Amino acid sequence: MSTHELYTIPAEHRTWDVDITGAARFTWEYDDGRDRLLSLYQKGKDKQWDATTRIDWSLDIDPSNALGMPVEAISIYGTDQWDRISGDQKAIDELSMHLNSWQFSQFLHGEQGAMICSARIVDSVPDLDSKFYAATQTMDEARHAETYSRFLQEKLGLLYPINTHLKALLDDTLTDSRWDMPYLGMQVLIEGLALAAFGVLRDMTSVALPKQILAYVMQDEARHVAFGRLALKDYYSQLTTAEREEREDFVVEGCYLMRDRFRMQEVWQNLGYDVQACLEAVKTAPFFQAYQSLLFQRIVPCVKDIGLWGEKVQKAYADMGVLDMAGVDLSALMKQDEDIADQVDVERLKALEEREVATSKVAVDTTIAVGTGSLAADSALTAAGPAAAMPA
Ligand SMILES: [Fe+2]
Ligand SMILES: [Fe+2]
Repeated sequence: MSTHELYTIPAEHRTWDVDITGAARFTWEYDDGRDRLLSLYQKGKDKQWDATTRIDWSLDIDPSNALGMPVEAISIYGTDQWDRISGDQKAIDELSMHLNSWQFSQFLHGEQGAMICSARIVDSVPDLDSKFYAATQTMDEARHAETYSRFLQEKLGLLYPINTHLKALLDDTLTDSRWDMPYLGMQVLIEGLALAAFGVLRDMTSVALPKQILAYVMQDEARHVAFGRLALKDYYSQLTTAEREEREDFVVEGCYLMRDRFRMQEVWQNLGYDVQACLEAVKTAPFFQAYQSLLFQRIVPCVKDIGLWGEKVQKAYADMGVLDMAGVDLSALMKQDEDIADQVDVERLKALEEREVATSKVAVDTTIAVGTGSLAADSALTAAGPAAAMPA
């Protein structure tokens, strides 16, 4: 079946073609990679996994509440827009399904964007150690796109087209001829935000399948953000003030775009809600406000760390109420992401083992029951004498 049959709003059938500018660069220096980048590359190779075997696709989800979340997590909960559907279970289920589909569809399109941006980095970055690393990331992103696509198509059965804000940021990121821009747009902003969004859902969901997907994808994403950080920190320390300010403007604009991306405009429109009222409601909803500030948990410390910490950037973060996040320890979060993925592996294997034991117990019980049944029949036959075994 074509994916187009699953889009709730028609998506373009043609490809989206972005004209790329700037050079594809070769280097003849095969020595002298930076140690930290090379060890990240080694880790990238060591930690490849296969979505077909690592994720338990036999697990089912309830498409009307794919993440098993309480209603309080619905982004208009507690607002006047919520009052209009509160108590109507059918409307709540429909909204929840569309919000999840929208969210995971943006993850999927973002992963395709990440795959294209990391391939672009392989092309354009001058150093071989970065090319090596970005090549492993390209493969990571392909596996992520494969995973989200399977989840959406096989389990949720509903997709949304790419959100306008995400598309605009991808376009800005890819059309810029400066080699550091795909890093800044993708590795720092889009990945940083996606990583935080995955994290909130991973920690809140009670459903095994999406938890596995989110935890395993996050294990890789943490490396990607670290890569952007390492490569840009070196480069930005050599820029002139004017060059740095251009990057800071890009960060400010990108962060506002990203914040607005998460207001799910397409869902309100598609389901016939009052779009303006919902966009306003989302802004004031208690859960969403907490969620939104968490979304910047990975971006703000990274932007500070790479040296784009001018007045404009700090002012924008203060305006968004996320300036405090500059103090978050990114390395500790990355370590935690890896530990959680390992823990999810343990739980998955344990559940599989328990299922196998239960299945073989059923098989043994059935065999015993059949055996006991035939024994009983045999004894009945013996007791009744040979005539009983003859057809009447
Ligand atoms: Fe990814
Ligand atoms: Fe990534």
